[in-house]
Amino acid sequence: MKKMAALAYEKGAHFMQFTGDMINGYLSSKEAQHLEYFNWKKSIEPFWHYMPFYIGMGNHEVLGIVFRDENGKRGAFIDGFPYETQSAEVVFAEAFVNPENGPESEDNNKYDPDLEQADFPSYKENVFYYTHGNVAMVVLNSNYWFAPSISKQTATSGGLHGYIMDNQLEWLRQTIRQLENDRDIDHIFVTQHTPAFPNGGHSKDDMWYHGDNSKRPYVAGKPVDKGIIERRDEYLDILANESQKVVGILTGDEHNYNWLKLTPEVPIYPDGYPHEKLRFSRPIYQINNGAAGAPYYGQEVLPWSAFTQSFSVENALCLFYVSGEQITMKVYNPDTLNLIDEVELR
Ligand SMILES: [Fe+2]
Repeated sequence: MKKMAALAYEKGAHFMQFTGDMINGYLSSKEAQHLEYFNWKKSIEPFWHYMPFYIGMGNHEVLGIVFRDENGKRGAFIDGFPYETQSAEVVFAEAFVNPENGPESEDNNKYDPDLEQADFPSYKENVFYYTHGNVAMVVLNSNYWFAPSISKQTATSGGLHGYIMDNQLEWLRQTIRQLENDRDIDHIFVTQHTPAFPNGGHSKDDMWYHGDNSKRPYVAGKPVDKGIIERRDEYLDILANESQKVVGILTGDEHNYNWLKLTPEVPIYPDGYPHEKLRFSRPIYQINNGAAGAPYYGQEVLPWSAFTQSFSVENALCLFYVSGEQITMKVYNPDTLNLIDEVELR
């Protein structure tokens, strides 16, 4: 991280966006979680006095309650509660300073079991947006209310890795609409931890789950209406078809670097997919960089692999050079300083 920050600073970056997996996490102790965050912050401290770092949540920021059987084997793992003091979300908000202009929580969504009390953790400082010059960055949380066990057993409720829940999706729709009408903004980037299209290491989850749309969050013991692939499509529909300004999505999670240009030609469905299919009225990019230092993940073969570009397992720092209408991305290895890739995005 120190090399990532040092190179970004040396190249004159105005700000840095880092979306999840700062720490190993998966803890049950709030104090231990803060210790890990402290160490991450310490690694970049010489630089963040001089340029802002905006931080998002990933799966490794999970903090919660682990149920074990009599042999100590891990069973259910759910977000910590009371949410105001013990959730992954509140500890994240304590550790970092981010804008507070996001949605409130998933309370009062149509599955909320009790409209009088708070039944979900806060989105405060883990979903938000900011602008710099003619660029807007929308930061989402695809690991909200995260229950790591929910994808395999649904005896508890909880959020699913990769799933943008209803209130957050609606906030995204409103925020994109507002930015579309903002004459000072030319380019919008959207960032969340999980790729819509995994390429190496996470085909079993992210927004794909081997093409299994049955995966979804559970609220008050019941599955929500939309599966992970339906929700992925609703999400991409907003970015591509309800916007002209969204350049693409910036993702992580997988320990590699690559990019995809999403067009109608790219196959994005499992065989025999029965639901409505998305059509891109204009292309958007997915740029994935989870190569800040974690052990690398090699490439997998997936329906869209023929369109996956520049796949690399080198450590990588993505720098976006914005000049009026134009955007160029340059990707450097922060360890060896060589140029990995250069792409004209606009
Ligand atoms: Fe991750």
